[in-house]
Amino acid sequence: MIILGIETSCDETSASIINASNKKIGVLSNIISSSLSLHSKTGGIIPEVAAREQVKFIIPVIEKAFSEAHLSEKNIDAIAVTYGPGLIGSLLVGVETAKTLAFVWKKPIVPVNHLFGHIYANFIERSNIEFPAIALIVSGGHTDLVLLKNHKKIKWLGGTRDDAAGEAYDKIGRLLNLPYPAGPIMEKLAKKGDPKAFIFPRPMIGSNDFDFSFSGLKAAVARQVSSSKYKVLSMGLKSDLAASAQEAIIDVLVKKTLNAAKKFKVRSILLGGGVAANEKLRERLIHNTKYEIPNTAIFVPQKSLCTDNAAMIATAAFFNYKPIEWKKIKANPELYFD
Ligand code: KG4
Ligand code: ZN
Repeated sequence: MIILGIETSCDETSASIINASNKKIGVLSNIISSSLSLHSKTGGIIPEVAAREQVKFIIPVIEKAFSEAHLSEKNIDAIAVTYGPGLIGSLLVGVETAKTLAFVWKKPIVPVNHLFGHIYANFIERSNIEFPAIALIVSGGHTDLVLLKNHKKIKWLGGTRDDAAGEAYDKIGRLLNLPYPAGPIMEKLAKKGDPKAFIFPRPMIGSNDFDFSFSGLKAAVARQVSSSKYKVLSMGLKSDLAASAQEAIIDVLVKKTLNAAKKFKVRSILLGGGVAANEKLRERLIHNTKYEIPNTAIFVPQKSLCTDNAAMIATAAFFNYKPIEWKKIKANPELYFD
């Protein structure tokens, strides 16, 4: 089955064509245009700016997805589109474009939850994922633990009560005067720092649920930054703060994920979302899983498939193929797990 995926939930405009079968998901093209550089100047995403950029790039990105795949609209069997959660202005561009194309080309259209997309990034080019599985989704807007009994039975177990993991990176990065988004830069900085220089709180690490909280960690870093002990925020100090804060975030994410994996005796652990590109998190999750629950397989997507892209949206649509009438699809910025 050939599917055109469209993703415009935030600041990435993406279109992808996949060739999907139960044995393998092949990516024929996965084009991503990002307005991130515009937002780094303002320290965060301005929804109006993101939406205007989506309008500018949506058609060129779809055109390029077809040309790179050496296909035309005649070759596709369906269109998949992210309908939430996300920024309303950005979502509307993808949803309305997909509906128009589905109407004009007379193709079935499948609405996809963006969060499921992050989970399904793991299924691209892979055929060996066994259920039940636990997925940890860590992005700029979400930190969620989800139980997948199979493709049809997906249950949310818990999530953040305040800041998401990526948001914690971005807010702590701002305290360290790093540009937005701070996650990848903080990761680099942390490599030069001592993760034990500061012992930051590990919020909710011992709680019996699958919830998270990261706002206290940001406050603890803020207290150190404004401490009178340090007259200047030197490179060395920044690196130690980044390494210590990252250590606290990763400790909590790994512990809670393994708790869930043990409780539900899963066969697989899946990681997804922008923060899943973080090497320390990937390494630690792989290492601790092998050590603590060696019979559980651990999967992490290629780094380029961790951040927002349309191949993951098309893949999620293939495994949960529920086309609906184009008239019934509406962008839903508040969408959660359904
Ligand atoms: O999934 P994503 O591209 O967009 C959302 O759906 O939110 O995630 C973006 C988030 C940002 O908060 C960014 O700082 C974080 O992912 N991020 C990282 C890394 N790469 C991106 N955080 C830590 N380490 C990274 N290497
Ligand atoms: Zn995302």
